Amino acid sequence: MLTSRPRGTADIVPPDTARWQWLESLARDVCRVYGYFEIRTPTFEHSELFHRGVGDTSDIVEKETYTFEDRGKRSLTLRPEGTASVVRAYLENGLHNRPQPVKLYYLSLPIFRYEKPQAGRLREHHQFGVEALGSDDPHLDAEVIALSLDFVRRAGLTQLDLRLNSIGCPACRPRYREVLVEYYRGHTGEMCADCRRRLERNPLRLLDCKTDRALAAAAPRSLDFLCEACRAHFDGLKAALEELGIGYTVDPTLVRGLDYYTRTVFEFTHGALGAQNALFGGGRYDGLAETLGGPRVPGVGFGLGMERLLGALAGEGRLPEAETGVTAFVIAADGARARALPLVQRLRAAGVAADMDFLDRSFRAQFKAAARYPAHFAVILGEAELAAGAAAVKDLERGVQETVPLDDLAEYLRRRAPRSGPQAGA
Ligand code: HAM
Repeated sequence: MLTSRPRGTADIVPPDTARWQWLESLARDVCRVYGYFEIRTPTFEHSELFHRGVGDTSDIVEKETYTFEDRGKRSLTLRPEGTASVVRAYLENGLHNRPQPVKLYYLSLPIFRYEKPQAGRLREHHQFGVEALGSDDPHLDAEVIALSLDFVRRAGLTQLDLRLNSIGCPACRPRYREVLVEYYRGHTGEMCADCRRRLERNPLRLLDCKTDRALAAAAPRSLDFLCEACRAHFDGLKAALEELGIGYTVDPTLVRGLDYYTRTVFEFTHGALGAQNALFGGGRYDGLAETLGGPRVPGVGFGLGMERLLGALAGEGRLPEAETGVTAFVIAADGARARALPLVQRLRAAGVAADMDFLDRSFRAQFKAAARYPAHFAVILGEAELAAGAAAVKDLERGVQETVPLDDLAEYLRRRAPRSGPQAGA
């Protein structure tokens, strides 16, 4: 049917768009004060970028990509996440030659994953994320976490939990991996089919399994196998978070679903989200640039689903009112209709949000339309007012009416227009 959208996608229509814009302006402001600058990358990339970058054994690449061949027989993939593209762009644009770290953010970036759609899980969702590249310093991990927390708190969320883990590096992870595989081999009878299949390919993901929780809880912990450098890094991060007064829980079963992570992984969960309770997450990916054929560029970042954040805000009853109103709706008597559009244009030129009737409504019906819009003021152009070079201005909320000379009208409305909608809190 041509009137229905593909499964797992969503339309964002007014007044909801105002809520997105409010979150976007908040995100931009938080990034500005933290010294992060915006990056925009293509919607599709060479498929190989995600196979190598995100990893063939991750669910996202193994089962969820939207991959197609273009007319030149190249395999392209709609981005299933933001990090690999940002690291690719950093290398390709020579950002490694700039002063480090380079701190970047992306906003409302469309992300495509062929998942089973359910509440909080879409096939196209939108992420706000940051990537800080070119430093190993655990203070940078703490900064990224602090930035994300500032953002969601300024948006109004309170019920958040931060879970933290370190999954080591290529020096210490192989040993941990062996021990983990050995442990799970001893429990294959109790494992779900998915986990049995993952055992050899991607054993860390077993810890993530929603069904085998008891097995994961009793499994060997990566934290007990960290090398000296990874241990010091994790201790540094925890100390930095404590210094900033950011509470966290160390969760040894937290591994996250992308293969590029090294050392730090973290996730914020939110009580109101139900089954998909991961509000957002991130971590360090010190080997990703090398995997893509570049030099060693350590990095850390997070990605946050805007839809999930809006869901969490709704769950806490903190979604701001959003409206599509205007300041002034010009209402014209029959003999004054021709004067309406020029007046509306004059108001707009002065920065006043103004509109008028385009359905040839009766005078009374125009009033109703103004109230329904909603407009704060009805600007009434009657023949008598026009003859006097004035308009009658009715405050539709308070019900009071005054006659205002046309030359003073824009200023009069600007001074009295209340700020409203989500933008008011930004
Ligand atoms: P991710 O955990 O796969 O990480 O996704 C980040 C966030 O995107 C999730 O926590 C969730 O808020 C949202 N999200 C993911 N999938 C969906 C979906 N199907 N529907 C709605 N929302 C979704 C990454 O993508 C990493 N690139 C994050 C990162 C950046 N790590 C380091 N830097």
